[in-house]
Amino acid sequence: MLARRINLKITTNYLKAVNYVTKPPKPEIPKNPLADVYSASNQQTNGVIYDKKPFKIMLEAGKTYSWCLCGRSKSQPMCDGTHRDVFLKVTQRPIRFQVEKTKEYWLCNCKQTKNRPFCDGAHKQKEIQEAFVRV
Ligand code: FES
Repeated sequence: MLARRINLKITTNYLKAVNYVTKPPKPEIPKNPLADVYSASNQQTNGVIYDKKPFKIMLEAGKTYSWCLCGRSKSQPMCDGTHRDVFLKVTQRPIRFQVEKTKEYWLCNCKQTKNRPFCDGAHKQKEIQEAFVRV
């Protein structure tokens, strides 16, 4: 028994010494530097759920993009102007955004994120995963 305890303690100390991490660190969610510039960023309503998972895309630093909030664009996750169709009666407008570094980002496709346009994990909620998505 004592040998077992000693063995366990040695193993635990070894894992601490090699900085063993069981879970990878959570990815940092980027911020939109244009969030305070455009009033569209403050819209209260979210669009329809386009997809139940985020979209990975390469974005260039300093370039301005328009992320679809209404969920009806045909070129997701970016806006294609579909929200202007008067017959659809869409009330949401696209979110203009920039990134600070050129790299790949996860953009929200469920349109329910609280950190527009970046995925914040809201798509994992049960209501979103069980929601009906039109094809
Ligand atoms: S896809 Fe919308 S929060 Fe992740």
